[in-house]
Amino acid sequence: MNPIEIEHLSKSYRGRRGKVVAALKDLSLTVALGEVFGFLGPNGAGKSTTIKTLVGQIRPTNGTACLFGQPTGAAGARIQVGYLPENPTFYDFLTAQEYLTMVGRVFGMAGESISSESERVLDLMALTEAARRPIRGYSKGMVQRLGIAQALLHDPDLLILDEPMSGLDPVGRALVKQIILDLKQQGKTVFFSTHVIADVEAVCDRVGIIAAGQMQAVLNVSDVLKSGIEGYSVKVSGCSADLFLDYTIFKQEDGWWSTTVPRGQYREFMERLFANDGQIEFIEPQRRSLEALFLDIIDQVS
Ligand SMILES: Nc1ncnc2c1ncn2[C@@H]1O[C@H](COP(=O)(O)OP(=O)(O)OP(=O)(O)O)[C@@H](O)[C@H]1O
Ligand SMILES: [Mg+2]
Repeated sequence: MNPIEIEHLSKSYRGRRGKVVAALKDLSLTVALGEVFGFLGPNGAGKSTTIKTLVGQIRPTNGTACLFGQPTGAAGARIQVGYLPENPTFYDFLTAQEYLTMVGRVFGMAGESISSESERVLDLMALTEAARRPIRGYSKGMVQRLGIAQALLHDPDLLILDEPMSGLDPVGRALVKQIILDLKQQGKTVFFSTHVIADVEAVCDRVGIIAAGQMQAVLNVSDVLKSGIEGYSVKVSGCSADLFLDYTIFKQEDGWWSTTVPRGQYREFMERLFANDGQIEFIEPQRRSLEALFLDIIDQVS
């Protein structure tokens, strides 16, 4: 049973003076069990609209969305989901601990489990010290951390996170990436939206690129990174750079020779280098990044 199945989803909002905004147009997507799926798109692309539909917060104009085979509004579907909304807001007169207790009760957790799991997620999100203070005194990043903590509290099988790294400092961003990787290790499924391509490259199995309410591409991240290799940046020493003059030109740097070897000539380059007692000091693939691909797609849409 796939955790997420979206078929032909459309959503139109009625804007000011009755003007209709088509926020989603015929979007279909399946996310498999254990997958980390990144949902990437510019501002106003339709990411939050998709996510709100998925968690049953808004109704689609057309199409269907199912979580673990059940319609998204159904309680049985929601119980398996941890959800971080965009810009989470809380009853700010509560403390984080009180809020988590409330969330635990909503999810039907036992009292003991609420205490131990609250402690776990507060510690994970570095909120233990602040846990007994009212949320109204929290910074923006602390509110975001609490948003993530409440999504993780009942150990759900599917996490739906709308820009989880937003508003976090570099330590917090790294922490969230690690949490996503750990969730994957435990066999959980994670669906998250972001604007940050490096975050997708770091943690996602697949990425969906959305623009103007339409899914423009769904890509396997490792395929993009692999197929994108255009050549290799190398630094060598120990042999004459003239040996390679027929297809590459070297620059001298600190006693090394550096160049970019085209992908197709990599093997020949290595063989010639080693046959002439040369040594590799540094080598790095030069890839067409996901960023370049993303910008091309967005360029075509606009
Ligand atoms: N409640 C609403 N009423 C009218 N229009 C809306 C409403 N919510 C969203 N929209 C419109 O729907 C489109 C998609 O918005 P959405 O919030 O889904 O984008 P997003 O991809 O999440 O953007 P961001 O990266 O800025 O969060 C936008 O044109 C937005 O103006
Ligand atoms: Mg959004």
